[in-house]
Amino acid sequence: MPVDLCSAEFLRDPHSRYAEMRARGPVHRASYNGRPVWLVVGYDAARRALTDPRLARDPDSLGPRERQRLRASARSSRTYGGYQLPPELTGNLSRSDPPEHTRLRRLVGRSYRPRIVSRMRPEIETIVGSLLDGFADRSVVDIVADYALPLPLEVTCRLLGIPADDMSDFRAAAAVLLVNDQGRWQESATVVIDVLRRLMRAKRAEPAEDLLSALAATGHEDGGLTEDELTATAWLLITSGYATTANTIGNAVLALLTDPVRLAVLASAPQLIDRAVEELLRRDGGVNLAPVRVATEPVEIGDVTIDGGELVHIAVASANRDPAHFEDAERLDFERRQGDHLAFGHGMRYCLGAELARMETRIALARLLDRFPNLGLATDPASLRWQDTPVLRGVETLPVRLR
Ligand code: HEM
Repeated sequence: MPVDLCSAEFLRDPHSRYAEMRARGPVHRASYNGRPVWLVVGYDAARRALTDPRLARDPDSLGPRERQRLRASARSSRTYGGYQLPPELTGNLSRSDPPEHTRLRRLVGRSYRPRIVSRMRPEIETIVGSLLDGFADRSVVDIVADYALPLPLEVTCRLLGIPADDMSDFRAAAAVLLVNDQGRWQESATVVIDVLRRLMRAKRAEPAEDLLSALAATGHEDGGLTEDELTATAWLLITSGYATTANTIGNAVLALLTDPVRLAVLASAPQLIDRAVEELLRRDGGVNLAPVRVATEPVEIGDVTIDGGELVHIAVASANRDPAHFEDAERLDFERRQGDHLAFGHGMRYCLGAELARMETRIALARLLDRFPNLGLATDPASLRWQDTPVLRGVETLPVRLR
C-alpha cells in the first residue's frame, strides 16, 4: 500500500515508515492529498535527484504529453503543493529551471551577499537576548510560540526591511497560502500580492540598507528583475526562512531535551555548538520534503522508471537518516564526519539562506542553554502534536520548564 504523505499516521511518525521503505529500495510510490506521486527516500538517490535537470520545478517546462499526464493525476486530488498560485508569487528562482533559474539566482545572489548575512549576527543576538529577557518571570514557556517562531520572523523583517505593521496582514494571508487552504487561497493571494507590491514600491521610492531595496534596485538594470519577479522573490524570501528555521530550532530543543547525554556534552563544551547544530540539522532539520519536482521525460532511479509528467518528492529527512550513508544514523553524534547532509538540499538549488539559518539556530540554542541550564520538557514527548504538513517537520507546541 503506497504511503499517504498527508495521513495522520505518517505525519506523527514518518521515520519508522521511511526506515521500512529504505530497506526495500530508494524510490516508492506514494500519495499526496490523493494524488499519486513518487517518493525518493535513499541518500544516494536523493542527492542525485536534487540535481537531476530532468526533474524540473516549473510545470511549464513540460511537453504536451507530460502536461496531459500531470493534469490527469490532478483530477484525483483536492489540491496540489502550491501549483495553483498566481505568477506574481511563483515567478521566482525556487519555481524556475535553468536558464531562468540561473539568471534569477545570479540576480538575487548579487543582493543576498555574505556581508548582508554577517551583518545580522549582532541583530540576532539582540533579538534572542530580548526574547530570553521576556522569560524572566516565567517558569514554563512554549519554545515554538515564544522563541522559535518570533526569532526568524523578526530576523526576516529586519533583513528584508519590512515594517512590523505590514507583517500582520501579511502573516494571516500567507498562512492560508502556505497550508494550501483551497477555499480561501484566491482572496489571500490578492492580499499577499498587494502587500508585497506596496512594499516594493516603497523600497523603490526610498531605498534603505536592506535586502528588498537591493533587489528593487536590480529592476532598473537591463535584464534585471521584472515587477512580478520582484514580488515573487520577496514572497520566496519571506516565506522560505520562517517555518523552516523555527522548526529546526524547535526540533533541536526537543532532541536535546530527550537526549540527556548529548545535552550534557553540549552544556559542558559550548564550543561544540557548530558541530551540534550541523548534526541536529541532519537528524532533525525542519524540512521533510524538498520542493516538489515534475519529471520532464522518463527518469530511472534505482529499479524504478518515473514517467514524464509524474511528480517527485525528495525526502531529505529520510536521506539524512539513511544507514547506508550515515553510520548509526538515528543517533545524534557531534563527532560525526560533517558536511554532507541534505537538510539544505544540494547543488544549484542549495538553500540560499543556509548560513543565516545556521547562525540563528546556533545563537538561539547556545543562549537558551546558557541562560537556563536546568531546562527540561514540561510535557510527555509522546503527547506532542506534529504540524499538519508533510513538507515541513516540526512540533506545534513545545512546553518547557525553565528552572
Ligand atoms: C533551517 C532552516 C532552513 C532549511 C532547513 C532550509 C531548507 C531548504 C531546502 C531543503 C531547500 C530546497 C532545495 C531544493 O529545492 O533542492 C531550500 C531552498 C531555498 N531556501 Fe532554504 N532552508 C532554511 C532556511 C532558509 C532561509 C533563512 C532562507 C532565506 C532567508 C531560505 C531561502 C531559500 C531559498 C531562496 C531557496 C531556493 C533556492 C533555489 O531554488 O535556488 N531558506 N531551503
